[in-house]
Amino acid sequence: MNKPDKRRRGPDRTAALEQYRRRVGFYDLELALFEPIRHKAISRLGLQRGEVVLDVGCGTGLSLALLRRGIGAKGRIIGIEQSPEMIGKARERVAQNRWNNVTLLCSPVETADIPELADAALFHFTHDILRRPEAVDNVVRHLKPGAHVVASGLKWAGTWAIPVNLLVLPAALHSVTSLEGLQKPWSKLAARTGPLDVESMLLGAVYVASGRLADGGHVHLPRSTQD
Ligand SMILES: C[S@@+](CC[C@H](N)C(=O)[O-])C[C@H]1O[C@@H](n2cnc3c(N)ncnc32)[C@H](O)[C@@H]1O
Repeated sequence: MNKPDKRRRGPDRTAALEQYRRRVGFYDLELALFEPIRHKAISRLGLQRGEVVLDVGCGTGLSLALLRRGIGAKGRIIGIEQSPEMIGKARERVAQNRWNNVTLLCSPVETADIPELADAALFHFTHDILRRPEAVDNVVRHLKPGAHVVASGLKWAGTWAIPVNLLVLPAALHSVTSLEGLQKPWSKLAARTGPLDVESMLLGAVYVASGRLADGGHVHLPRSTQD
């Protein structure tokens, strides 16, 4: 039987759980190189004191300190993560810092019972989540009109940039279970929020896409606009 084509098929939950069970011990070290991108992505959220922010696919909680700096002690962070091992590390981080305004939900994003509407949502290095329409829908349903959204992570550089893409490929295979949509990983999000401003970095291998949910609810753009 032919193996399913990773470039076309969607994300695989069982494979993702296994991938992050294996990576959890050294995950924070591996991500250290990308910290400037995290700073940029979180700054694009334009967080204000007292706001509620969703950390979608929060992993070990590497974004929590910066998010908390933006919303202050009176704001709230809701982290959603399906890997018990990854969220276990996030729980340790929260306990060590005695952050009492962080709620962590161990659940797939697509079925997460998000307890309140949020002012902002961060999808940092969460390609598998961004390519699941049900996951994106569940997040967008829990955003207030005008909420800020930011997605960031790896993407294919232009087709001409073969040497860059030769670096993107192993990095992506290491951290996602589907390469589908790697040209425009933000497209399903943008189809629900309205157009996003996309900034490319590292010769096109990394992006930060940011924007706001249209006031009065979300906008469904024609597929051709953003896909
Ligand atoms: C590359 S890590 C990024 C973690 C974190 N956002 C960060 O910046 O370090 C991707 C995370 O998404 C989680 N994930 C993948 N698919 C998911 C889903 N459908 N629901 C919830 N979490 C998911 C993985 O378990 C993993 O922890």
